[in-house]
Amino acid sequence: MTFHIGAEAGDIAETVLMPGDPYRAKWAAEKFLTDAKLVNEVRGMLGFTGTYKGNRVTIQGSGMGMPSISIYVNELIKDFDVKTLIRIGSCGAMQENIALRDVIIAMSTTSVTTPSSTIFRELNFAPTADYGLLRAAADAAEKIDVGVHVGGIYSSDTFYDERPDLNKEMTRHGILGVEMEAAELYTLAARYQRRALAIMTVSDHLITGDTLPADQRERSFGDMVEIALEAAFA
Ligand code: HPA
Repeated sequence: MTFHIGAEAGDIAETVLMPGDPYRAKWAAEKFLTDAKLVNEVRGMLGFTGTYKGNRVTIQGSGMGMPSISIYVNELIKDFDVKTLIRIGSCGAMQENIALRDVIIAMSTTSVTTPSSTIFRELNFAPTADYGLLRAAADAAEKIDVGVHVGGIYSSDTFYDERPDLNKEMTRHGILGVEMEAAELYTLAARYQRRALAIMTVSDHLITGDTLPADQRERSFGDMVEIALEAAFA
């Protein structure tokens, strides 16, 4: 048990998928895992452990934003010795050739700050995905009927952004989409030599202003869970 995860030592698998929304963790565990059992409900941040094609996996909510995911990832690594962490979330598209429902796999991520920024002082650390996971996820995505984009993303601290100029620079520099967690996930994975990847479905489009209707979100989310599980155990 930790401050924020009420599980016993053996309850958490070595591989953890992390949606921002705890109800998405429940949905994915019920749909994709065999013998899923609830292992955490502290603060309603649900976590479930079960098996996928015989492999043990935990699906644990991360909450929204880097301070929140930082808490869960720190505890998963330090107290439960988790080896592989895959964020499965949503993002806003920043390029015209990207459509709603497409999947973005983050090779690297740019941010203004992360909860880890102060330890780097004047250095700009470049948070980067685990290459093996990235390659396996790209391969898994090719087998599914979904648009997939692999490249840089932007991890922002604000959903309601007062700096549209920053978004414009991100678009101009080829950044695919904006979300709010991956930079800290990749930084912690680098610090503790773990494997990490962030996969996002496009839920809204910053250039066109389009948003994904609620009834289509579940299907896109399912594509992404499948890609993450296939990549984790490739
Ligand atoms: N901005 C930040 N985070 C997001 C967005 C967005 O537009 N969409 C989904 N997560």
